[in-house]
Amino acid sequence: MQKVSELYRGKAKTVYTTEDPSLLVLHFRNDTSAFDGERIEQLDRKGMVNNKFNHFIMSKLEEGGVETQLESLLSDDEAVVKKLDMIPVECVVRNVSAGSITRRLGVEEGLDLNPPTFEFFLKNDALHDPMVNEYHIQSFGWATESQISEMKRLTFKVNDILKPLFDAAGLILVDYKLEFGLSDGKIVLGDEFTPDGCRLWDKETREKLDKDRFRQGLGSVVEAYEEVAKRLGVTLD
Ligand code: TMP
Ligand code: ASP
Repeated sequence: MQKVSELYRGKAKTVYTTEDPSLLVLHFRNDTSAFDGERIEQLDRKGMVNNKFNHFIMSKLEEGGVETQLESLLSDDEAVVKKLDMIPVECVVRNVSAGSITRRLGVEEGLDLNPPTFEFFLKNDALHDPMVNEYHIQSFGWATESQISEMKRLTFKVNDILKPLFDAAGLILVDYKLEFGLSDGKIVLGDEFTPDGCRLWDKETREKLDKDRFRQGLGSVVEAYEEVAKRLGVTLD
């Protein structure tokens, strides 16, 4: 599979077209961004770790019956994916309070959320990814009512698959963000699932092992991602 031309450069990944119009290449770069791109740093090995981590998780999701964009690994930091028509909203499920919900609702970090909450955000850095509801999504034509319910169903199904997987590795899946797209009219999971887009805490110590280490300047960011990968059994080298 050969890359043909750059289609889109995001904050942490670059998307390339290929000779096959139905396939794209995702390049996981070492760039790490926070605060809607306000802060960007290069972290050695992160592209490779995230690419392999993403491949591991997406394979587990496929086994669990969630259709994903991922086709195969292409190199250490590249993967071949199906081309999707992306829906510009982010789907967030939270099992434990952390991050923006603590600021928005004035609640403390670390509360178990029963049932887990679900939120939609508009993917728009300039507007700082504002929260939107199902009416906004339909009224502005970003997705239909049935596409919205399918995204919600699949986002919770991902929780059912991944919560026990992380738990068995001694980790709490605090929250995560998913993005979906359309392929032949069907809702398919796209983008990535890596410690860049979720929160993972050690079950015993509650140590943060995700991108909050970067956001909060805690250091050892990629080392934490590698620790999570090791506990899950992801092969890195
Ligand atoms: P939040 O607490 O900032 O709303 O984020 C909730 C989860 O979703 C957290 O694991 C980070 C992830 N997320 C992203 O990866 N990118 C985003 O643009 C947003 C809004 C959230
Ligand atoms: N939205 C991602 C984050 O929450 C990346 C960024 O903000 O630049 O860290």
